[in-house]
Amino acid sequence: MTTAAPQVKEARPEDGTGPVLEVSGLGVHYGRGRKRRRALHDVTLDIAPGEAVGVIGETGSGKSTLARAVLGLVPASSGSVRIAGEEVSAYGSRRWRALRRRGVVQYVFQDPLRSLDPDLTIEESLAEPLLIQGVPRTEAALRARSFLDRVHLAPDLLARLPGELSGGQRQRVAVARALVTEPRLVILDEPVSALDSANRVQVLEILKDLRSSGVALVLISHDLGSVAGTADRIAVLYRGELVETGTADDVVRRPRHPYTRLLLGSAPTLRGRPADRAEREALRAQLDA
Ligand SMILES: Nc1ncnc2c1ncn2[C@@H]1O[C@H](COP(=O)(O)OP(=O)(O)OP(=O)(O)O)[C@@H](O)[C@H]1O
Ligand SMILES: [Mg+2]
Repeated sequence: MTTAAPQVKEARPEDGTGPVLEVSGLGVHYGRGRKRRRALHDVTLDIAPGEAVGVIGETGSGKSTLARAVLGLVPASSGSVRIAGEEVSAYGSRRWRALRRRGVVQYVFQDPLRSLDPDLTIEESLAEPLLIQGVPRTEAALRARSFLDRVHLAPDLLARLPGELSGGQRQRVAVARALVTEPRLVILDEPVSALDSANRVQVLEILKDLRSSGVALVLISHDLGSVAGTADRIAVLYRGELVETGTADDVVRRPRHPYTRLLLGSAPTLRGRPADRAEREALRAQLDA
């Protein structure tokens, strides 16, 4: 008699055509015992290579939690995450470190200062992920310079510390740093919310240009208006749940969920005119019903 081999979930062969990110039924809780609170519930989302997806929701809706759970920075309480075909949900810290070191997926923190070590020059910050991968120092320095150019910053910034840059410059360095390893997926948490409108437009243009290099982007924002022009698809998070996902055009023109309509009401550039108070109150009432 032969005994069946235990069922092991095999990684799908990675030929570069499958989704770069597959999130399925993902749930996250914070706290323990009576303080345990649900922050994310049953989130399912696939991202194709080269696709840009906007994740939109108000403050506290779970956007950063989703990013952190995808990157293994907070544990999932349910569901699964596959990055470039690799099932990562059960990874311990050692395997996560190895995966991050390979640079397949990169994260730009909500606060750009957190993405950059205050004691490293811009050149050192940009070269570091490459040096970790074993890229020789001279080549790492060359690549650091070329990625700074891709985010439209002058090479004289290379010798400075993060504290010696403007907020907009810092944000662009953080974007450049996330790109040097040529990742398949970059998750950017509020990439433009701290910027003035001129810088915002420029950074969004840079992100749009990046799309041609085949990298997939997750653009997290509380402001639908600022990512609708850059994202192919929009996913709307409300109280930890994805309430609507669709092409950017569909979500903006034909929002189905009252919460999406409410978000559109605060993005007058997309809608022609802002929602008035009565309209907002009616939508809130639908949400609370
Ligand atoms: N480390 C933590 N411990 C406990 N609760 C947390 C923690 N981090 C976040 N939360 C809670 O989880 C919920 C989701 O938070 P999250 O940071 O994901 O929201 P967000 O959508 O990114 O908001 P924002 O737009 O303000 O950045 C919030 O209610 C928040 O208070
Ligand atoms: Mg956040």
